[in-house]
Amino acid sequence: MTVVHPTRGYADVLVGLQYGDEGKAKIIDLIAPDYDIVARFNGGANAGHTIETPQGRVVLQQVPCAIFQPQTLLYIGSGCAVNLWKLVAELDQIAAHGVDLTGRLHISDRAAVVQAAHILIDERDSAGIGTTKNGMGPCYADRAYRMRGGARTNLQLRDVLADPAGALEAMRAAADAELAGYDGDTSAPRRDLQQRLDSFAACVERVRGHVQPRRTWLAERVGQGARVLFEGAQSTMLDVVHGDQPFVTASHTVPAYAYVGGDLPPRFHRYTIGVAKAVMSRVGNGPFPSELGAERSAAYFADAVSAGRGRAEEQAEFDMHRLRFSTDEMELGIAMRMLTHEYGSGSGRPRRIGILDLEQLREMVVAFGVDVVYLNKVDCLSLYGESMFGGIPVRVPATADQGATRVLPSFTADQLRADQPDVLPLELLEFRSFVEREIGVPVIGFGMGPKRDQITQFFRLGEFAR
Ligand code: IMP
Repeated sequence: MTVVHPTRGYADVLVGLQYGDEGKAKIIDLIAPDYDIVARFNGGANAGHTIETPQGRVVLQQVPCAIFQPQTLLYIGSGCAVNLWKLVAELDQIAAHGVDLTGRLHISDRAAVVQAAHILIDERDSAGIGTTKNGMGPCYADRAYRMRGGARTNLQLRDVLADPAGALEAMRAAADAELAGYDGDTSAPRRDLQQRLDSFAACVERVRGHVQPRRTWLAERVGQGARVLFEGAQSTMLDVVHGDQPFVTASHTVPAYAYVGGDLPPRFHRYTIGVAKAVMSRVGNGPFPSELGAERSAAYFADAVSAGRGRAEEQAEFDMHRLRFSTDEMELGIAMRMLTHEYGSGSGRPRRIGILDLEQLREMVVAFGVDVVYLNKVDCLSLYGESMFGGIPVRVPATADQGATRVLPSFTADQLRADQPDVLPLELLEFRSFVEREIGVPVIGFGMGPKRDQITQFFRLGEFAR
């Protein structure tokens, strides 16, 4: 028997199901008006979410989106690692757009504080994994370490607020100890360090009013009827345990973690929403089973990152319209990257490109209880029609008589109606059915273009019954 709680709210969790950059922000913007609170539960400034506004663009890394919906509250849970310097820069940017977050943004006082030493260490060690250099790994490691050589390693926001001078001293000592082990010229990292230390106290005071000491804050609100959307950062394939170590982020990204790092009892869970991309991408190193060009592309990416080659260099060197017809998968991958704009939004570094991996997607859906999937970049699949594949390539489990790559009938770009995203060619309706059969859950919508209104919504979450 279903027990109905007329006044009780609920939470839905939205996560990426591939390697990050699936276009979660676009989906969150679409559905956020249906919620009272948007909350983060993992990660920190390693996430990125760009909002285009008439006044220019706002880049959010730590503040949950929905900043432009004045009635929506924003929460940063205890599972996040807060970079106070970047958070203050973000708050300044938001204020410059005339948005006042006083009383709207709440940050758990148990969130870990990213320290200057964490950033130094991550900058030094970034290359192996290809991290974003935001200090995530060292910060979460210090949280687990708790004490080293008699000194506390983890600073929670509550520690920093209670004793800002003590926190600054602890941070300085940790950074000095780190730099003492460096060979060669340390003038650049020392200069950055000094800047961070000099501005730290002001950052603490700027954020103080947003820090929420009540651990029951979210639970109380949901108990009284609030509807929460948890906004997952990164993706399930980058989870610190469930991804492929060591090529993962440092936090848990799987939906269940929303109820640890998001400070809410799991009894309030309603649906899990997954977001995937029809043309896949991965930044950073590590396994990518459906990568176009396989190991050669991975090596190309590693070289490009170390040589600082990005969008501009590729544009100068390659003719994407020619490479599109290449019979070399690596070249097709380069063309797809250029034609579908798969470069890091901040760094401009190239993203590795792969075909839609339905075997992996099904595994994510089953392992993490995903209820519905949004598939983005579906319009880009038309590019495959004239490629060496002659249709839409997808990766599926290999069978005794068929390989892992299946090619589905394609459509052409001119069959798509920009003004009518709900009118889809037959091939795309068949594609949707194929994907649903393979992954075992409904595809709720297709992203059909970069704009936020270019989403074909097949049904609304409220109409969904498991
Ligand atoms: P970290 O999270 O900075 O430690 O980076 C670890 C790995 O996760 C690297 O491969 C990063 O490129 C990847 N990563 C972290 N955040 C994102 C994201 O928001 N999108 C895509 N990849 C990410």
